[in-house]
Formats: sequence, structure tokens, C-alpha cells
Amino acid sequence: MPAVARAGRIAVMHGQAEVRRERAALSRAAAGGPNLGHHGDAEVAPGLVDLAVNVRRAAMPDWLRTPIVASLHELASYPDPAPARAAVAARHGRPADEVLLTAGAAEGFVLLAQALRGARRPVVVHPQFTEPEAALRAAGHQVERVLLPAANGFRLDPALVPADADLVFVGNPTNPTSVLHPAAVLTGLARPGRVLVVDEAFADTTVAPESSGPPESSGEPESLAARRDVPGLVVVRSLTKTWGLAGLRIGYLLGAGELLARLAAVQPLWAVATPALAAAAACATPTAVAAEREIAVRLAADRAHLVARLTELPGVRVAGVPASAFVLVHLAGADAVRLALRERGYAVRRGDTFPGLGTDWLRVAVRDTATSDAFVGVLAEILEA
Ligand SMILES: Cc1ncc(COP(=O)(O)O)c(C=O)c1O
Repeated sequence: MPAVARAGRIAVMHGQAEVRRERAALSRAAAGGPNLGHHGDAEVAPGLVDLAVNVRRAAMPDWLRTPIVASLHELASYPDPAPARAAVAARHGRPADEVLLTAGAAEGFVLLAQALRGARRPVVVHPQFTEPEAALRAAGHQVERVLLPAANGFRLDPALVPADADLVFVGNPTNPTSVLHPAAVLTGLARPGRVLVVDEAFADTTVAPESSGPPESSGEPESLAARRDVPGLVVVRSLTKTWGLAGLRIGYLLGAGELLARLAAVQPLWAVATPALAAAAACATPTAVAAEREIAVRLAADRAHLVARLTELPGVRVAGVPASAFVLVHLAGADAVRLALRERGYAVRRGDTFPGLGTDWLRVAVRDTATSDAFVGVLAEILEA
């Protein structure tokens, strides 16, 4: 039985946790390597400080809560994506047909993999979030991996991408490396006959390094969300990270109207629920964008603090130049250190399930400075012992 059909049957037979385990095993078997179905949420358990999941946890602002709650009165009607689509389009300076709302960025990868089954040479640039490759494999694609070397700070080298790759996935900023690739390098990967997918799930966490002005001037450096001149470009966005909406499932794709129409054709009917649409519209307003910028500026300061503390520790190296809500850390024996951290109350993300990394890597979420200080203190004690 094909893997996808088998996973579907398992979903009917068992609970969600078992389905995920089984899906992970299928992905692993299909890929013949790291467990692509492993995600940070599997590392978290009650009582642990969560440094494994990159979702921001903070009180929901009124401008977001009010429309989500109000939408609960409309649940007897089927969802109407038009207002949210128009709001997201306005945010990114695009016409509405260049926006496709999805049940989280994760659904976007599935739509791309399913709609573009005709791709001859799909390539995924790693290390990166593993769901694009998992979705491609589940749709029957033979996936080629391009591995960016740690020695080069995981920076994107366009020469590594085969010239005839007709479907290319890159993350920016990239999970788990936190590296932000220059927009010009990414657009250099576009060419006629190629679909270039840039996963900007964490673009709203970035700020221009030289930004010293007010938060609203810090923009989203290197984002391609508003670029309508790049052939074959599809930008994937998520609203689940900064706004703590992982359980609501909301994201969107940006790209040429004809290409998005092909993706919409394979999307289940009413895929995005009414409360998620209310959230998408609210998160596209100038108030939301200004709030996002303030959060990103604060995050940059918290990240600088975490990086400074980590680099004081002997044998600990922070990869590349981190630009997002997490940092990637190299230390010998990180797999054993991760288990010791769990015993001391901290969940961090293992690195070995990302293609291109291994057991000497960990990903750590950026939190407030007090949490980072406490974490680094415990890590120092473990390393000393
Ligand atoms: C880089 C990246 N892209 C996309 C996603 C999926 O996000 P969503 O919750 O919007 O499906 C994640 C989730 O962890 C991610 O890390």
C-alpha cells in the first residue's frame, strides 16, 4: 500500500500521537535518513521550560482576540476567505489573486507538492524545516538535497543548486540555522521554468542589523513577500509563530495568480476555518505590523543576550549569524547534553533529525533574558560536570 494511503488508514485507526509516530517512521523509511517527521513539540513535556518550540507565548492582544472571538458567532456559515485575502494582499501590496490562504504554512507545502507533481528535479536546500521534503516525498517526488556546509556559516551558495532543478525550496530566515539569506542571492535562484519556494515563516522575526531608528523603520530585511517581478516565486508565510496561533492553523502563499490557482485547485474546500480567517485579517492591519516590528526589535536584543551568554561557554559555538527566534548551537555530544538538560527541566530541540546536521547540534529558542540566563547557568553546570 502506498505510504500516503497507509498513513490515512492509520489516521482513522489510531489517535493523533500514534499517527504522528507512524508518519515519522514512514518519512524516515522513505528518505532513508533522519526522521523528517520529528518536530520541536515532541520534545516538550509538562514541567519543562520550552526552548524547543519557536512559537511565541504571550498574552493575545485585544485587536487579535476580539475578531477571533467574534468569529465564533459565525460558525454556522461556511468560511468566506475573501475579506482576509484582500487584507493580506493589501499588506503585501499585491492583488488578491496573488494570495492563497492556507491552514498554516504546513498546508502550503502539501499544496505545492501535490499540484507540482510534474516537477522533474525537485531540490530542497538543507538544513531547513523538514516538512517541505516530507510533503514532496508523500506526493511521490524524488527529492534531491542540497546541504549548505556549517563551515560556510550555512550561507546560501546558489552554485550548489543544480541548474536544471525546476522546483527549489529554501527557508529565509532558515529554521534551524537562523541564517538570513540576502534577497539578491535568493532572486538569483529564479529562472524561467523553475518554481522557487521561499519559506518566510519567520520573516516577521527579522530586523535590519543596522536598524537604529524606530521599530516601524526596521522592515523585514530580505523578505520577498512584495516582489512581483521574480518569475516562479512562491513565498510561504505563517501567522502561527509570532502571534501564538499554532493551534489555529493559519498561513498563506504569495505568488503569481496563475500558479496560485493551480495550488488552490488541489486545496480541500473550506480549508481555512472562520476564526483563522479572522486572525489573518487582523494580523494584516497596520496595527499588527507595527506590533510585529516592536516584537522583532525586542527579540533581537534578547537574541544578542542569549548568543553572548552561550559563547562564554567553553566548547559551545553558535552557528552563523542568527537572525530569528532561535539559535543553532554546536557542542560535542549535544545529544547527551540534551538529555541532561531535560533532567534539569529544559527542553531544547535535537539537531540530528535535520538533514545536514548531526548529534552535535541543538536548537534553542530565544526567550526573555532571565530565562536565557537561567538556561545558560544550567547548561554551564552540565558541561562542567
Ligand atoms: C520554517 C518553518 N516553516 C513553516 C512551518 C509551519 O508553520 P505553520 O504552523 O504555519 O504550519 C514551521 C513550523 O515550525 C517552520 O519552522
